[in-house]
Amino acid sequence: MSLFDALQPATQDPILLSFQDFMADPRAEKTNLGVGMYYDAQGRIPVMRAVAAAEEQVMQRQAPWGYLMSEGLPGLRAGAESLLFGDALAGSLRGRVATLQTLGGTGAIRLGAEVINRLQPGAVVAMSRPTWLNHPSTFQAAGLQVAEYPYYDRATGEVEWAAMREAVAAMPAGTVVLLHACCHNPTGADLSPGQWAELADLLAERRLVPFLDLAYGGFGDGLEADTAPVRLLAAKGLPLFVATSFSKSFALYGERVGALSVVAESAEQATMLTETMKSITRNIYSTPPTHGALLVATVLGDPVLRADWRAELESMRLRIVGTRQALLDRVGRNSGHDFGFLTRQKGLFSYSGLSVAQMQRMKAEAAVHAVEDGRICMAAVNESNIDRVAAALRAVTQEG
Ligand code: LMR
Repeated sequence: MSLFDALQPATQDPILLSFQDFMADPRAEKTNLGVGMYYDAQGRIPVMRAVAAAEEQVMQRQAPWGYLMSEGLPGLRAGAESLLFGDALAGSLRGRVATLQTLGGTGAIRLGAEVINRLQPGAVVAMSRPTWLNHPSTFQAAGLQVAEYPYYDRATGEVEWAAMREAVAAMPAGTVVLLHACCHNPTGADLSPGQWAELADLLAERRLVPFLDLAYGGFGDGLEADTAPVRLLAAKGLPLFVATSFSKSFALYGERVGALSVVAESAEQATMLTETMKSITRNIYSTPPTHGALLVATVLGDPVLRADWRAELESMRLRIVGTRQALLDRVGRNSGHDFGFLTRQKGLFSYSGLSVAQMQRMKAEAAVHAVEDGRICMAAVNESNIDRVAAALRAVTQEG
């Protein structure tokens, strides 16, 4: 009898499976519209100008690579807080925000889930239907229970706001409500500023606990607008969790840079939250990695680099907006499918409404890989593959 006799095949994440499938595809013309990464017009993951400049500074410093404190790099934590909360840090939020550097956005979500489970074991986290495929299992892995609220109307391609509001209004106090701050993954359908304002009132009234996932800041309506829900909810005086990823906004995917910020009711609570988070990460990976954090901290801490980073991020956002229109023009209106969603949705993704069978046909017949739930990464469409992508979409919708 061996320990490994009990081994069973483990369920694989569909997003990472599609990436794996793409890598193994021998066809030269293959196109990866699966995993959420931004590619430039030439199909390359960019090295952003400000990040390249920061890299030079980091390499010139010739310093040893010792351990960071468990909290992470001070400049990264301060930079994340300044992006999220701005001037309020010096005012109403002074001392009440606890921020830890994390292993990307996923690390921030898991850490937040662990904190919640320590404070309220088995608490319920309500998430949008649908949501990022990795959300439910990440919260469950920390011991929390998962529930859903209606979010996306497949028939209209819009947020089903009335149903969502009704569901939130019926949630018991203390329920954690997971929200995508911007660029909803996978649907690309976001709440309007007016809906956010109404939701914030409702969350406060019902004593609910908002948990914002901010993975695509800057890719929706611009950095200021995309981070506005954070400031709106922080101003409500509720406990608030914000999981920030720098993977997409700095194109630092493999560096795993993120941050978890928790807004407490007092400075004492914030200190205890920091201690709690440190004790959790110590038992998982001890201390966070240095290199990516140094890059982000260098950019955010230098006004010139920071301005250049913002400008380049905005140009990346605008490239996706242009690509959405260009793809819509190419798939045209003669298809059997309404592709109007392409220009209505925001961020890296379009939720196509295509069936699993149609997605599988695009892969088999045209080497166009995407997630089987119909999610297409628009940021991977460029001048050299757009005609092929449009032809594949037309083919599977005309005959499918
Ligand atoms: C995605 O949704 O494709 C990205 O957030 C990458 C990932 O880890 O799934």
